[in-house]
Amino acid sequence: MKSKYTVLSPGDLHKINTAKQALALDVLIGLGEHPKMLPSKYFYDERGSQLFQKIMKLEEYYLTKCEFQILSRYQSQIADLLSGEPFKLIELGAGDGLKTKILIEHFLHRGQPFTYIPIDISEAAMKNLVDSFQKTYSSLKINGLVAEYFDGLKWLSQMKGGRNVVLFLGSNLGNFHKPQARAFLKSLWNTLEDGDFLIIGFDLKKDIDLMLHAYNDKSGVTAEFNLNLLRRINRELQADFETNNFRFFSTYNVFSGAIESYLVSLEAQVVHVNELGQSFSFLPWEPIHTEYSYKYLDTDIEQLARATGFRIVDQFYDENRYFVDSVWKVEKHSK
Ligand code: TRP
Repeated sequence: MKSKYTVLSPGDLHKINTAKQALALDVLIGLGEHPKMLPSKYFYDERGSQLFQKIMKLEEYYLTKCEFQILSRYQSQIADLLSGEPFKLIELGAGDGLKTKILIEHFLHRGQPFTYIPIDISEAAMKNLVDSFQKTYSSLKINGLVAEYFDGLKWLSQMKGGRNVVLFLGSNLGNFHKPQARAFLKSLWNTLEDGDFLIIGFDLKKDIDLMLHAYNDKSGVTAEFNLNLLRRINRELQADFETNNFRFFSTYNVFSGAIESYLVSLEAQVVHVNELGQSFSFLPWEPIHTEYSYKYLDTDIEQLARATGFRIVDQFYDENRYFVDSVWKVEKHSK
């Protein structure tokens, strides 16, 4: 008699787990939770990536300006730390790669051999990045990868040989919960080899109003960026979110140290998601949580490096000490 079960190999699972099914599953899980939530990685469709680029140019979004200043000011110190053997410059969540251009130009100028490997979840953003970099720097070796962080790490673990320098800029790590951030960095450490580097950005705790304005700009780009998540679900899963019935709201939680972002339902409403064959009801003022952006203290950073096995080699701050790019090294053989 034929047994009534199917063995799915990871390969098969990969084939049926299309991007659309992954989104559908995450929407099903997220909107079934109390309080409701949607994973922030889905912000970055083509329009979302464009909107985030607009956020990075906003007066209020100090993070990008700080990091520009840090990378411009300390490019040669950073290059000194990394100089020598050729390396792969692997950037997690590269986006438009604008900040990275500062380092890349400097490395090329110094004749430092390296290959740039930007990794990003958005295919549209990746296409723009690779096209623009190839046009600007004819001698640059570049090899983009469209993937999520974890898949990017898996890919990285299969690429043995040569030095790695991993860039994790912006406040990308800040979007992880504290325990997830630790787990992610620990698995990054496991993937890397002795002598590899990680250059990681942290947005530091500072004046609360400054942080609040960065995550709720006057011109409404940030609100649009969050509402675009609902538009994406409408488009890709044939849902009927009425974006006018939701309001973007962000707040700073002093206790957890994170900016929390929400889309709040303004009235009692029912949203149907055709692709799931399911409806979700909202009460007036019911929130959907969309993002955490954790802010760090210097001591948090030291603890995090220690807990994940990295050694802090150097720290580069902007003039206001709003932000830090921290250079971490992997040392596996020394005891
Ligand atoms: N990684 C960015 C950050 O946390 C993403 C972001 C910027 C964001 N502004 C936002 C996410 C507003 C949600 C809401 O800084």
